[in-house]
Amino acid sequence: METRVDHITGGIYRISTWTPSYRITFNQFVIDDERPALIHTGEHGAYESIREAIAEVLDPSRLAYIALLHWEGDENGGMDRFMSEAPQAELIGSALSIQLNARGFGVTTRVRGSRMVKRWISETTSSGSSKRRMCTIGIR
Ligand SMILES: [Fe+2]
Repeated sequence: METRVDHITGGIYRISTWTPSYRITFNQFVIDDERPALIHTGEHGAYESIREAIAEVLDPSRLAYIALLHWEGDENGGMDRFMSEAPQAELIGSALSIQLNARGFGVTTRVRGSRMVKRWISETTSSGSSKRRMCTIGIR
């Protein structure tokens, strides 16, 4: 399993794992600032590879937020281990998702539903041949 790190802009990085069995990549995002955030954790089986990639950007024990934009194995499969390694980290998601999913699965400590702003930005080059997308969230 190969996981790569791409610097997007500023303190934002994409962690990307090509998964041949599905023929797609699973992506996570790291926001490196004074309260670093990891957006999605990847699948359970990809944890070590994703953790190593994140460690190229920052010490995973520094994570302050682990954000889940929705609740599926490819987003939260590494949630327990990232939360264990970052003792000050909060698991955050939309208020509805935390109420329905986190609490529904018995995850009740260091978890918070938030108002989150999710924005997708698409850019097309002048030739029209390439597109880039970036996810931006606000944590309140
Ligand atoms: Fe998913």
